[in-house]
Amino acid sequence: MGLVTSTEMFKKAYEGGYAIGAFNVNNMEIVQGITEAAGELRAPLILQVSKGARAYANHTYLMKLVEAAIAETDLPICLHLDHGDSFELCKDCIDGGFTSVMIDMSSKSFEENIAVTKQVVDYAHDKGVVVEAELGTLAGIEDEVVVSAEDSSYTRPEDVEEFVTRTGCDSLAIAIGTSHGAYKFKPGTKPQLRFDILEEVEKRLPNFPIVLHGASSVPQDFVAKINEFGGNMPGAIGVPEDQLRKAASMAVCKINIDSDLRLAMTASIREHLANNPADFDPRQYLKPARAAIKAMVAHKITDVLGCNGKA
Ligand code: G3H
Ligand code: 13P
Ligand code: ZN
Repeated sequence: MGLVTSTEMFKKAYEGGYAIGAFNVNNMEIVQGITEAAGELRAPLILQVSKGARAYANHTYLMKLVEAAIAETDLPICLHLDHGDSFELCKDCIDGGFTSVMIDMSSKSFEENIAVTKQVVDYAHDKGVVVEAELGTLAGIEDEVVVSAEDSSYTRPEDVEEFVTRTGCDSLAIAIGTSHGAYKFKPGTKPQLRFDILEEVEKRLPNFPIVLHGASSVPQDFVAKINEFGGNMPGAIGVPEDQLRKAASMAVCKINIDSDLRLAMTASIREHLANNPADFDPRQYLKPARAAIKAMVAHKITDVLGCNGKA
């Protein structure tokens, strides 16, 4: 198997009532941890690269890391641009070998969102690349863009048919109460995703793959470990995993997870260095960090997404 688009993955996920994990990658250990878990569990995989990750790691290095992941696992892997913020960035990634791009004009007006998304779709489809778009605004931080809870807004189901028809996008990210980053909801509150909106979107867009961003669950044991070993993270909780399982059984075919991998990696590195203060060999702390990412991804695939054995 080589690099694939998400088309087949989403078709099977929709029919099978499960979701594909889209995990953010920034370096070799993260790519390895994710793909080792997916390879062992035979789970189809989306590796996604943000604008910031691409600037950090360099396009060519990332392409070669993903090529290596395919050679090692023989998995169907889709390489996706996460939160593309311009036509030019999407074009660069399409020309550079990505099989999927997201154009995120969700903070712009409906008409501007449609115009730029359609421009990306026309270019991408011509090259066999698929496009994710977004309607509605999530709270939280992505790259340098910060959206406050007051400025976030749920997707309006009455907009989705017109948006998808006019843009020709292949999947749609919607806002139903998730948010980016590790600080989603106050401890003690009961997060509740708006399944009524998801149901209404599903009715209006039958058989159309829906995407959920900001879907980390922020495991409290990792936050506690980070704080135990010198960190200072304010209390916060994430999206309950039972609600993600429910979304995966509905029209949601792609679930984005980044923060939970960061938490697993950081907790492991902090613990290792606290317990081994004389260590200065990066392999000594990156090896358990990679294993922590692998364990987190294995848990998500098996207990949340339900895509194990579907590759
Ligand atoms: O949604 C955003 C992702 O978590 C990527 O974050 O822009 O800091 O790489 P980043
Ligand atoms: P989290 O911050 O909840 O992991 O969301 C990641 C994401 O949506 C990437 O696009
Ligand atoms: Zn996102």
